[in-house]
Amino acid sequence: MTASTNATIEQQLSWRYATKRFDPSKKISKEDWHTLEESLRLAPSSFGLQPWRFINVKTPDIREKLRPNSWNQPQIVEASHLVVIAAKKEVTHSDVENYLSLISSVRGVPTSALQDYGNMMKGFLDNLASQGACEAWSTRQAYLALGMLLSTAAALKVDTCPLEGINPVSYDEILNLNQSGYSTKVACALGYRSADDAAASYTKVRYPRADVMLEA
Ligand SMILES: Cc1cc2nc3c(=O)[nH]c(=O)nc-3n(C[C@H](O)[C@H](O)[C@H](O)COP(=O)(O)O)c2cc1C
Repeated sequence: MTASTNATIEQQLSWRYATKRFDPSKKISKEDWHTLEESLRLAPSSFGLQPWRFINVKTPDIREKLRPNSWNQPQIVEASHLVVIAAKKEVTHSDVENYLSLISSVRGVPTSALQDYGNMMKGFLDNLASQGACEAWSTRQAYLALGMLLSTAAALKVDTCPLEGINPVSYDEILNLNQSGYSTKVACALGYRSADDAAASYTKVRYPRADVMLEA
């Protein structure tokens, strides 16, 4: 990488901040939105199992209903887009079978050649289930997708606010997720900062490199 590429990436990462007030009149273009969705779809996940769903909440009435279930945060209704990231509550052998079929068709390998890999995944998932840890595992995957979304948005100069200040139980109800096998974990508002968002000028608060970057 050239020094200017490094400087550009660092500049993008410093430019982003958790936007509190979006300009409701500014909308993300179709092209940028496509790329942002791809950053979610292409996110890495453990074994590649992709135990998630991403809900693009387009309907204004639904966003109005979500707001009081989100500490009344204005980003829910003011941002151009709102994505809710849901994780699969139980990841089972049938998810592994589906995934193996996909690998088989995408890569043109017979499923019989994937049996050892499948058994390894099933063993891993059985172990998680026995510890009641499956949903916590899929939630971690969901947060990785959130990270990809935030970084991609920064590169596109799209503002974001990750949102954990939401009531997942109400979200599941409002978004009809209760029978889906997925549950709400986190949301992200995306769009363009309002000219009067005071938070845009706050200096970043991060621990010094020497505190957080260790070597071994
Ligand atoms: C998972 C997650 C959830 C967050 N939830 C909220 C939220 O509900 N509302 C909000 O205004 N900011 C929220 N934030 C933003 C953080 O407060 C913010 O990222 C942090 O203070 C660092 O500031 P910066 O992102 O502006 O650099 C969240 C951040 C993360 C990563």
